[in-house]
Amino acid sequence: MCGIVGVVSKKQIVSNVIEGLKKLEYRGYDSAGVATTTGDGIKNIRTIGKMKNLVKALAKTSIEGSCAIGHTRWATHGKPSLVNAHPHVSHDNIAVVHNGIIENHLALKSFLLNSGYNYQSDTDTETIAHLIHNILLSEKDLLKACIKCMKMLHGSFAMAVICDDMPDKIILAKNACPLVIGIAANEKSVASDVSALPQSIEHVIYLEDGDLAEITANSYQIYDESGQKVHREKFRPHPNSFSKGKEAYDHYMQKEIYEQPKVAQLAMSGRIENNRVTDNFISHDLKMVLKKLENIHIVACGTSYHAGLVAGYWIEKLVKVSCRIDIASEYRYRSPVVPKNALFITISQSGETADSLAALKFAKKSGYLFTLSVCNVDNSAICRESDETLLTKAGIEIGVASTKSLTSQLIVLGLLTLKLAEIKNIEPRIVKKMTKELSTISAVLSQALHQSKKVKALAESIANKDHVLFLGRGQHYPIAMEAALKFKEISYIHAEAYAAGELKHGPLALVDNNMPVITVCPNDQLLDKLISNIEEVKARGGQMYVFADKTCNSKIKNNNHIDFENCGQFISPIVFNVPFQLLAYYVGVIRGNDVDQPRNLAKSVTVE
Ligand code: G6P
Repeated sequence: MCGIVGVVSKKQIVSNVIEGLKKLEYRGYDSAGVATTTGDGIKNIRTIGKMKNLVKALAKTSIEGSCAIGHTRWATHGKPSLVNAHPHVSHDNIAVVHNGIIENHLALKSFLLNSGYNYQSDTDTETIAHLIHNILLSEKDLLKACIKCMKMLHGSFAMAVICDDMPDKIILAKNACPLVIGIAANEKSVASDVSALPQSIEHVIYLEDGDLAEITANSYQIYDESGQKVHREKFRPHPNSFSKGKEAYDHYMQKEIYEQPKVAQLAMSGRIENNRVTDNFISHDLKMVLKKLENIHIVACGTSYHAGLVAGYWIEKLVKVSCRIDIASEYRYRSPVVPKNALFITISQSGETADSLAALKFAKKSGYLFTLSVCNVDNSAICRESDETLLTKAGIEIGVASTKSLTSQLIVLGLLTLKLAEIKNIEPRIVKKMTKELSTISAVLSQALHQSKKVKALAESIANKDHVLFLGRGQHYPIAMEAALKFKEISYIHAEAYAAGELKHGPLALVDNNMPVITVCPNDQLLDKLISNIEEVKARGGQMYVFADKTCNSKIKNNNHIDFENCGQFISPIVFNVPFQLLAYYVGVIRGNDVDQPRNLAKSVTVE
């Protein structure tokens, strides 16, 4: 999604803004730009495509300054084009970068057109630039003009504004999109994501909805929407907020897949002792909630939604607590009925996904006992909005398509399932056995990664196909769904997931000798049923590929299969997800796709 970076300093800082924008590339974008005050009119440069185009264009100019803002755009209003790229400038004096959507921009635009403003772009952001310019004709102070402007805007926004008449300050405003200030001695910065702030910052401040701020090289002040000064807490930036680069890997996605054994250790660290989930895994308040808990609602988007689906199988099977899992954008608008004694769980890697955040805000007013989030980014909007957060500790994830995040989310949700069972005193012996099994997860993930050569060979044989079907049953059905999602995102090949039992209710009609069908085959109580489904595909000439537990080898009569060590039934979905990630990765690479930034997609979807 769109990214914002701004720096105000005593020295020349356009290159710092560019460095920050490069760190936001992973979020997905289609154009980029930077603007700086000069005291002699705003200087603005924008390019379409990747950041390297902007860097090249900048090299041909002499644009420099000590107060600059930059942006990576992911088109919402108006197609990706040079005129639609940010920053948007009004009368060489005001420049604005903006994330989000201004819902009433057409009404404002009509007023501005009538007042003589000329539009260059199709964006809602250009309206903000002209509006501030217009207000400044009577209101001489930039902050006051921005406060007035913000009151007139409906919708979601994070924005940074510079003015050439007041060339040493940046004004910030936030409503429903993330914006964070970076503080260093003689320099202040702003970004939509902590990872894009200069690593030299000493503190970060997360702005809240309705906040405005004025930053200069030596000062910062935050205001509420009525212009009253407000205090917001300062935090030390977490070292995990900054990326260490690709290291020896070809792509971030590859690195993040291979990091999973380590990520699993971090997600588990300090959370299991003597085959028991530690007491401090959750707070006393949450423990009290779990005691009387009768229902759970889980809400998430994308890959995080699949984590929720797996957790639903675990919780209902072991703890017998009813669990409903929703896609956030559906939950928000389906008038959900909140059952008795219900816990609301939001799962999100970024903690900023607009639909998940809105669902959480809705849930907070709807009568749940407690709101819990499972999140990777500490202090993100979803963490701040929740009563409690269980951090997944996966470290910064750069690949747009989530990989290691799912593993860490499942581990945390597995721990929560075990804790809930313990609190409800359910099957202590089985819970202990499952806890032991979860403790092996890091080693088992390493073993699964050893099968990468075989997965690569499979990738080579299906990389030229147009369609692929993924099958799974029970708690592995969400893994088939995740496999299809990862596959389509990265390979651009159409992929669908089906619960294997549904095959004969429709998708079997698609199966012929040109259709690869890939199934996940654990050795569980559904094995015989799954083997019948495999036979159904083979009988229609389909190309069947099986990711199988080694211990059910003798039962599967299929030439194309890849074996995995038996890991136990509880952690099996976490483990079988890994070869599917590798498969999507290899097919994407073979097809020459940008696997880290797949076309049209964004990492953190901060608009509805
Ligand atoms: C985007 C990303 C996905 C991610 C989803 C939910 O679509 O491309 O990889 O799963 O958002 O994001 P969240 O940060 O809430 O987990």
